[in-house]
Amino acid sequence: MVEDHSRRLLGRAGLSVGASLSDGALLTVFDFVFTDGPYNGSSLALLGRAVLGTVMERPIVSGTGAFRMARGYTLSKMVASPDPNSLLVLEYDAYI
Ligand SMILES: *[C@@H]1O[C@H](CO)[C@@H](O)[C@H](O)[C@H]1NC(C)=O
Repeated sequence: MVEDHSRRLLGRAGLSVGASLSDGALLTVFDFVFTDGPYNGSSLALLGRAVLGTVMERPIVSGTGAFRMARGYTLSKMVASPDPNSLLVLEYDAYI
């Protein structure tokens, strides 16, 4: 996870696995763990289905630290795919 303006590393995310043979849907299990910035040490847990190339809405199911018992959702979109097999750049907006 990279902050847009300075490209400073803010934390780590999770994993995606294929969830459909036909439409490229993914099941994603993300735990955004912040390692810098005002939320250093806190995390946000996301779970949900996503289809690359669309605006992806996924639920925030919980969190730790500043985000303990968090509820909400994220809207995200792919902004670049330098190597679609291993590297995607995504932009996330989180509503918590
Ligand atoms: C983030 O928090 C950890 C644990 O408290 C600390 O060791 C680390 O230095 C912090 N990172 C930054 C960039 O402040």
